[in-house]
Amino acid sequence: MTSSQDLQPFLDIATEAALAAGAILRSHFGNLKSIEKKGGSGNLVTEADHAAEAKVLGIIQHHFPDHAILAEEGGKLGNPDSNYLWAIDPLDGTTNYAHSYPVFAVSIGLMVNNIPQVGVVYDPMRQELFQAAKGMGAWCDFERNGNTERRPMRVSTTESLEESLLVSGFAYDRRQTSDNNYAEFCHLTDLTHGVRRGGSAAIDLAYVASGRLDGYWERGLSPWDLTAGMVLVEEAGGNVTAYDESSIEMASGRILATNGLIHRELSQTLMEIKPLAEFVRTDT
Ligand code: IPD
Ligand code: CA
Ligand code: CA
Ligand code: CA
Repeated sequence: MTSSQDLQPFLDIATEAALAAGAILRSHFGNLKSIEKKGGSGNLVTEADHAAEAKVLGIIQHHFPDHAILAEEGGKLGNPDSNYLWAIDPLDGTTNYAHSYPVFAVSIGLMVNNIPQVGVVYDPMRQELFQAAKGMGAWCDFERNGNTERRPMRVSTTESLEESLLVSGFAYDRRQTSDNNYAEFCHLTDLTHGVRRGGSAAIDLAYVASGRLDGYWERGLSPWDLTAGMVLVEEAGGNVTAYDESSIEMASGRILATNGLIHRELSQTLMEIKPLAEFVRTDT
């Protein structure tokens, strides 16, 4: 069993790595030399993804050479038998970034014995650093008048779907599957104050944790998108499950994360919606 005190060194290093990678992302922003496609369907990668990931890996591998790592660009690294697994997304929101749309983040999560326990999400444009560790709560460091200030994070108190502001997203395979989230997005847009599509799963989760959004669902995600943000939401008092409220399976790529109060209503609504097969396009 890992106590919250034991997690502090991991939180410190994750924070150091997120800030360093965030500075790299800021320096390349709006000034990219290479934007490439990964695997066809609009999944972009830039030199900033690679440079930020190299920085994060350098810091984590220096401090924890025996740990396992799963990084978006580099894949599986380190010791595969370790109980410690770092899930790293050096640039979550690459499509936004490649278009100079300033919504993206560095996401660094740590699983201990397969349970997400440390989460750091850094938004380098707003200089907001979202942090949490199991049993330690969640908080956000931000810049004001040249000083760093800290506020604790709590999820919102919105009690109904009708009163809520949600967020979701669409995976890169959306054109090849009827499970494309289009029906869910349309339906829930009608039932709520609105559904945003921010373009960064890590920011979406950080905003649920900080009470700016009431709930988030998405499919087609990877552990590096989710691990850090899950810890943020749980430690801020929210609920994170599969769509049907069962325990989340990282391999399923699906997540439902809310303030807890709207969880059942959103889960039931998602379970009732049938995919709109006519939206499937196979020509791209
Ligand atoms: C993507 C973002 C986006 C989500 C995609 C992810 P990337 O990550 O989190 O919000 O909708 O499914 O793949 O590729 O920008 O790191
Ligand atoms: Ca990507
Ligand atoms: Ca991502
Ligand atoms: Ca990424």
